[in-house]
Amino acid sequence: MTQDQVTPFRWHGEVLEVLDQRLLPAEEVWQAYSDAEGVYRAIHEMQVRGAPAIGIAAAYGVVLAARSCAEAPDWYSRLGATMDWLAQARPTAVNLVWALERMRACLAQVADSADLITMLEAEALAIHREDAEANRAMGVLGADRILAEREGPAQVLTHCNTGALATGGQGTALGVVRELFQRGALTCVHMDETRPWLQGARLTAWECEREGMPCSLNVDGAAATLMAQGRVDWVVVGADRITANGDVANKIGTLPLAILARHYGVGVMVVAPSSTLDAETPSGDRIEIEERDGTELRRSGRRWLAPNSVAVFNPVFDVTPASLVDVIVTEKGICEAPGDQVTPLDSLT
Ligand code: MRU
Repeated sequence: MTQDQVTPFRWHGEVLEVLDQRLLPAEEVWQAYSDAEGVYRAIHEMQVRGAPAIGIAAAYGVVLAARSCAEAPDWYSRLGATMDWLAQARPTAVNLVWALERMRACLAQVADSADLITMLEAEALAIHREDAEANRAMGVLGADRILAEREGPAQVLTHCNTGALATGGQGTALGVVRELFQRGALTCVHMDETRPWLQGARLTAWECEREGMPCSLNVDGAAATLMAQGRVDWVVVGADRITANGDVANKIGTLPLAILARHYGVGVMVVAPSSTLDAETPSGDRIEIEERDGTELRRSGRRWLAPNSVAVFNPVFDVTPASLVDVIVTEKGICEAPGDQVTPLDSLT
């Protein structure tokens, strides 16, 4: 891939190629899928990950499913069942369900199976394109907001990977960081390594290095020290689901960052497309939090990191209460202090 071509997938009409993010940065391996089953596995096993990216991949998965059943008399019900099943590939990011609901609404418009593939493909491409556009808009809004209240460049800290690898465009939180960099307004982006999958170390560091951004990697536990030393102006993170009251589900480790940020007087900015807003769920305690296998903590490849029988608690997301978030940025605008509901969140949907 060249510098400006970082993308989690490539659509070829009959095949979805997925960059296997589990292998980055050591290897760039593309897996080709020609059916929805393959796309389900790619999402479930985290070859492709990041809330917007899994939604887009699932939409392409529906097109692949349509290709295989367009001739069958029961294509409508078969595709409905495929969408129900794809929605279960990962439980926390609402973007997955959102994208599949858009595909379902499109399917409902199909009067004749002759139009099925063309219509579904056009919808999947639109979902992809709109996410890239949303990323660009959020980059500008987020960078403007950070620079509005300061003279010089900013120092930010980010968690997980919210960049091109996690989205259909330049990224959400990392899109804001990119925009700051392009304006010459970024002193440094500190990157939490993000245990246990190391999305920060393996993916964000890879993206930032390729572009020559001033960046620095730290263990998750060093975030407090960075803030205590005055080296962070803003924590800038993405989201997997934002509930009606402004609570934010994001990669495990986001909640401790928000608590630290409040202690040290550092701002917390959450950057996510409107497809991440879930008005149906009233508050964060109602979100299903994915828990993954304990093996992810007990070993790294062939190396044991812990006794193989030790009990493990491995939730992969946490919920930050709205009261600890200073700003939510979507492509539609900015919500200040979501905990106070001064700007109603539903104005950003
Ligand atoms: O488990 P992952 O890697 O899919 O988790 C990703 C995150 O938590 C991201 O912060 C979130 O999806 C936003 S990506 C633009």
